[in-house]
Amino acid sequence: MDYQEIVKNTKALKIEPNFSNLKKINREWSWDNIETDLDIPEKKFNQAYICVDRHAEKTPNKLAMIWESADGNIENYSFLQFKNESNKFANAMINIGLKKSDRVFFFTDRIPELYFACFGVLKAGGIMAPLFSAFGPEPVAERFNRAEGSYIVTTPNLLNKIEAIRDQMPTLKEIIVISHRSEIKHIKNILHYHEIMKGQSEKFEISESKKEDWSVMHFTSGTTGLPKGAAHVHNALISHYATGKYVLDLHPEDIYWCTADPGWVTGTSYGMFAPWSNGVTSVIYEGGFSAKKWYGIIKRHKVSVWYTAPTAIRLLMKAGSTLPQSLNLESLRYIMSVGEPLNPEGVIWGEEAFNLAIHDNWWQTETGSIMVANYPSMNIRPGSMGKPFPGIKVAIIDDNFKEIIEPDIEGQLAIKPTWPSMFKAYWNDEERYQSRFKGEWYITGDRAKKDKDGYFWFIGRDDDVINTAGHLVGPFEVESTLIEHPAVAEAGVIGKPDPVAMEIVKAFVSLSHGYEPSDELRRQLIGHCRNRLGPGTAPREIEFIETLPKTRSGKIMRRLLKARELGLPEGDTSTLEDD
Ligand code: PRX
Repeated sequence: MDYQEIVKNTKALKIEPNFSNLKKINREWSWDNIETDLDIPEKKFNQAYICVDRHAEKTPNKLAMIWESADGNIENYSFLQFKNESNKFANAMINIGLKKSDRVFFFTDRIPELYFACFGVLKAGGIMAPLFSAFGPEPVAERFNRAEGSYIVTTPNLLNKIEAIRDQMPTLKEIIVISHRSEIKHIKNILHYHEIMKGQSEKFEISESKKEDWSVMHFTSGTTGLPKGAAHVHNALISHYATGKYVLDLHPEDIYWCTADPGWVTGTSYGMFAPWSNGVTSVIYEGGFSAKKWYGIIKRHKVSVWYTAPTAIRLLMKAGSTLPQSLNLESLRYIMSVGEPLNPEGVIWGEEAFNLAIHDNWWQTETGSIMVANYPSMNIRPGSMGKPFPGIKVAIIDDNFKEIIEPDIEGQLAIKPTWPSMFKAYWNDEERYQSRFKGEWYITGDRAKKDKDGYFWFIGRDDDVINTAGHLVGPFEVESTLIEHPAVAEAGVIGKPDPVAMEIVKAFVSLSHGYEPSDELRRQLIGHCRNRLGPGTAPREIEFIETLPKTRSGKIMRRLLKARELGLPEGDTSTLEDD
């Protein structure tokens, strides 16, 4: 195999990594030891207790969160304040009727109250289900209904999207609106965060909370059907804590920044649970991507450990290395990336810009925590996602679900169940949950290979799911929205390779009788999808075609659309419908 090995990173690490010998830690690994390390009191097996209250008792004044608003205001919150605010919200939710395992959706900006409220819900026994705030109304209603949600917490700027779908969510009990900046007018049928918090006690006793109680739900896209709610339990925290300690290499004095939004699993597992269970100060930035602003955050808050995504790294690369070099970001000691393949150029560029190689790691919504990683103490092979986390058996398997032992052979990436953060259900969909397990394996849906030294190399998805800027998009959801438009007879959606976002959403559309292809219609269709689905999920490109290739049973052959788009051989077309 042709790769350049970077011998790193111990020199750049200013402190001793939490482990320096992967073989040794693998040999000695036991999840029980991690639990002992955490020392959780009986009946308090609650993610919020472990992340917040435990530290509020021991280090009440330590900063839990440094928050910077999109316009540059900075607010600091200690673990004690965090505990008090989340306790108040837990009381407020119980007061308005929250029952154990009720689903509370979050559709908000990244403001401090979002984090207090999420932990408040966990303390009160609810399930937190955060959604990405750039979604349009349809994905929100669809996900809420699939989970039979009870509450939605939102912000004033997003409230109109919720009000537009209120009637379509029969199980919705209350909408709670948070305004971080100013008081907002009272709106009929809407609860106001600051009003329901008024007079609530800062004390809250977590009633019996068990490892296997539900805690977090994230929605993830598949090839067929609409997104599924992958549900996790409080025990997942064991994995968050362990990977925070050994992959993120968090030390008590670190200032950590995860750029992901809590609407995606990285933003909760590694934006909330991993740093806070390790008692580390976390930076939360409300704004979006901007090279200058991002470097400003690192400089101002002295970020030492930074977890981001390949698309962001590629955008930073485009902005050049002069800026980070001139800023002398000396606090940074360790950078990681996840969500898409990190090209070798990205790993190496980190050396040029920050004097630090970027460490890639791999996992999924379903796995709940990092499964394969480049560890700080390990030599990086640029382009490889690294080696399995201790206690996790990762393998390449063939189509008969047998492990492929020989190196460098492509197959399905599979993991042997189970581990603490393993998802425990697709909400209300046992059949699809079971379909992810074959023989003794959990099937990830990715293809990969393993080299002779045990490094894993990502090859691609094994299904039609699109990865755009690190966010998975299910083609079915986009196709369904397109065919709601009267001009569209049929639609097939694929991921088209893109140098920055990895893939963009591209739709092939055949038109209904009486409609003619035009640029104006293309704009209308993109607008229709953006309004309903949101800008990240809507197609960026639409191509009109006469008819879509289909199997004899009528299924659109996305694989063929993709091969044609890429100019690749069409493969087996024996099931293709006759023209
Ligand atoms: O295809 C893989 C890709 O992202 C998928 C998981 O996406 P999601 O469930 O949204 O979880 C995001 C949290 C990581 C994987 O099945 N993926 C993730 N990390 C990598 C990756 N592809 C290549 N390299 C990675 N490091």
